[in-house]
Amino acid sequence: MPASGTFSWGFEYAARFDIEALGAVVSKGITRYSRQGNAQPRVAETPMGMLNSIGLQSVGLDKVIDELAPQWARWDVPVIANVAADTIDEFGEMARALDGVPGIAALELNISCPNVDAGGIEIGQDPVASGRATEAAVRNTELPVIVKLTPNVTDPAALARACVDAGASAICAINTVLGLAIDTRLRRPVLPRARGGLSGPAIKPIALRMVYDVAQAVSVPVIGCGGIESAEDAVEFLMAGATAIQVGTASFANPNALQEIIDGLDQWLVCEGIEDVHEIIGCAQPVHA
Ligand SMILES: Cc1cc2nc3c(=O)[nH]c(=O)nc-3n(C[C@H](O)[C@H](O)[C@H](O)COP(=O)(O)O)c2cc1C
Repeated sequence: MPASGTFSWGFEYAARFDIEALGAVVSKGITRYSRQGNAQPRVAETPMGMLNSIGLQSVGLDKVIDELAPQWARWDVPVIANVAADTIDEFGEMARALDGVPGIAALELNISCPNVDAGGIEIGQDPVASGRATEAAVRNTELPVIVKLTPNVTDPAALARACVDAGASAICAINTVLGLAIDTRLRRPVLPRARGGLSGPAIKPIALRMVYDVAQAVSVPVIGCGGIESAEDAVEFLMAGATAIQVGTASFANPNALQEIIDGLDQWLVCEGIEDVHEIIGCAQPVHA
């Protein structure tokens, strides 16, 4: 799958390659009302990755339901709506509004955005608030609810357990890692909000460790995300315990990255003589049943 926010609403890529080859399309973060996002500059390049502070620029829920979802409904590939809310109650309201909308197959709750004043990381860093946000969504929809975790915590397994206890169908790990870049000429941070979210290959070991920990803590599927740019990277995440993967920043540098990873994964399995990918899922875990 593409990672939320790096694939827009899917239409541009649909014109470029066969998106039906994907497991799912994940939408950009959807907010209740349309938002402009943060001031420029919103991105800064870093060694082996990038910092972003987009701040959830979004068209808003109504436009997604009225204009985008009907187009998604014509695709065979399922579309997962990535949902961002300012409050726990708003997660519930948005889940209710998206419930039963043709073209939307599941929700991914973004309780992990580091670039907004409310609703993001401060919910996602607290297991109690994370559980309540999950519960609010689950109570209001028949759709599967995936919860996307932040890596900016000391105990991701506790967060994952809180979300699963509250009814999450799957966990996605990870959103971006908090970071900072300084413009030495201007003597101040490059990004207007100072901190940004680090993504790309630099965060792969962090993401991999989180998937490894979370997969041990919960029995629902774990979606691995963070720094994946090759089939070999994808295999590492599957071995750590992920049953699916998302690719974000890699697509900015190489718009064919998703297709290359899908093809590369097939080739890797053939080369290794593996008939069913499930044979390797979680095989690097300490106890492999
Ligand atoms: C420009 C940009 C925008 C993003 N927007 C969102 C978003 O709207 N919702 C979300 O849950 N994650 C968002 N993310 C986080 C990614 O989905 C992903 O979790 C993160 O970038 C790590 O994966 P990667 O290293 O493959 O990019 C964004 C990331 C980037 C780089």
